Amino acid sequence: MTAATPAPPMIKAAAVNKFFGDLHVLKEIDFEVERGQVVVVLGPSGSGKSTLCRAINRLEPINSGEIAVDGKPLPAEGKELAALRADVGMVFQSFNLFAHKSILDNVMLAPLKVRKVSSTEARKKAMELLERVGIANQADKYPAQLSGGQQQRVAIARALAMNPKVMLFDEPTSALDPEMVQEVLDVMTDLAKEGMTMLVVTHEMGFARRAAHRVVFMSEGEIVEDSSPEEFFTAPKSDRAKDFLGKILTH
Ligand SMILES: Nc1ncnc2c1ncn2[C@@H]1O[C@H](COP(=O)(O)OP(=O)(O)OP(=O)(O)O)[C@@H](O)[C@H]1O
Ligand SMILES: [Mg+2]
Repeated sequence: MTAATPAPPMIKAAAVNKFFGDLHVLKEIDFEVERGQVVVVLGPSGSGKSTLCRAINRLEPINSGEIAVDGKPLPAEGKELAALRADVGMVFQSFNLFAHKSILDNVMLAPLKVRKVSSTEARKKAMELLERVGIANQADKYPAQLSGGQQQRVAIARALAMNPKVMLFDEPTSALDPEMVQEVLDVMTDLAKEGMTMLVVTHEMGFARRAAHRVVFMSEGEIVEDSSPEEFFTAPKSDRAKDFLGKILTH
């Protein structure tokens, strides 16, 4: 790439369609996320938010359209896919840590197996990341010995261990007790400030207002609004967004 070529968007989806049987769950989705941008995805249950995340990570095949990460179209399968998938870190509602491995081993595993780094290097990096998410002192424990908030922070450290270009978060705080939500949001906010490109599905409106550069509102498989948080929360344009905000802000 020459210096004159503008950098491609970090995530680009063009005319993406996805069906589950007859159900059309992503309808001609067009959207881009610039590098360093934090985009919060909102929308009612069943609107396609998780499917969009999974499609970006190729955990879910799409029926038509194109998805590219950092300018590279996602191949359907094979070695190239494994490499591109490693560029995209994903954190889910359920932490999915390996129960029989220590916290440290959970974070070291993928770099050792996929990136083939030395164990000394993997350990050093894992400890740095555990430090960064505030749980280095728990490194030798097992997941079940940690609180939900701590486990989710391990899951974030584990995703970061692969040096991803993008982080996808699908309702990372929805399974947590209320008192643990903030500690996870704080880690995410720090990550955003450091310039990580992030796509975040969340019901945490405070996070959306404070940390997001953009809010994307989905309804029935479509992107209905794509605006600044300020604009979305104070002057939503569509009836669907107004209805959604009415429900979520008053409950
Ligand atoms: N594996 C699947 N097989 C069939 N239908 C599915 C599958 N996964 C999701 N769906 C359907 O696709 C639609 C979109 O689901 P998706 O999980 O993406 O919604 P969502 O916006 O993430 O909802 P929620 O807020 O409840 O997490 C829903 O109607 C859902 O029932
Ligand atoms: Mg979902």
